[in-house]
Amino acid sequence: MAISFYMIATFEGPLLSIKTVNSLSHYTDWTVGHVHAGTLGWVAMISIGSLYALYPRLLGLPGMYSTKLIDTHFWMHTIGVVFYIVSMWIAGITQGLMWRATNADGTLTYSFVESLVATYPYYLGRLLGGLLILAGMCLMGWHMWKTWKMAHGVAEHPVMSPDVAEAKA
Ligand code: HEM
Ligand code: HEM
Repeated sequence: MAISFYMIATFEGPLLSIKTVNSLSHYTDWTVGHVHAGTLGWVAMISIGSLYALYPRLLGLPGMYSTKLIDTHFWMHTIGVVFYIVSMWIAGITQGLMWRATNADGTLTYSFVESLVATYPYYLGRLLGGLLILAGMCLMGWHMWKTWKMAHGVAEHPVMSPDVAEAKA
């Protein structure tokens, strides 16, 4: 999933760099959506996944306290990021189109405040996504504490040596 978000961010990036697209997207929330597809979708997800894989190894445990909780976090984060970036796509394109709209006499059709008011519903969408992501991180914190409680001490060989890995295979 992290790699999929990475693909979204790196597909979107070159698109945003095209002059005609950038003349619409620049200064709008579209950029903010792009930022978080990269940071929350790719960077955060790959980091969280790595933690779930490495943390029990450090403690000498076969796995985390509960795989179900990892699954729950995965879906909370994924749905949260989707809410975030989809809201920002719609908000950004709405802003860009409203800012460039002109009347026949050349005056602007919308004031800045009108474009801000039009964006409110999408900010609520982002809030919902953000809360889901935050709740997922709290779940992860609690889960790590539970896993910590399960361990009797720090593993003697915190990182699995190649010999052990081979013997197991
Ligand atoms: C092929 C890959 C990418 C390209 C070509 C690209 C290109 C762009 C473009 C054109 C903008 C908008 C510039 C503007 O209108 O001001 C932008 C903004 C941004 N991108 Fe990307 N992007 C790529 C991938 C990523 C990834 C993977 C991340 C994060 C991990 C990322 C993080 C950002 C950030 C933080 C900004 C906002 C900078 C700011 O104005 O504060 N980008 N990128
Ligand atoms: C629930 C999690 C998050 C929420 C709700 C959130 C929300 C926001 C908001 C509201 C902004 C300001 C946008 C604006 O200027 O209008 C912002 C900017 C930014 N955030 Fe996040 N953020 C979150 C997580 C992260 C994470 C984990 C990273 C990096 C790893 C990150 C990187 C950035 C960057 C680079 C900007 C500046 C973007 C720009 O100016 O174009 N955010 N974020």
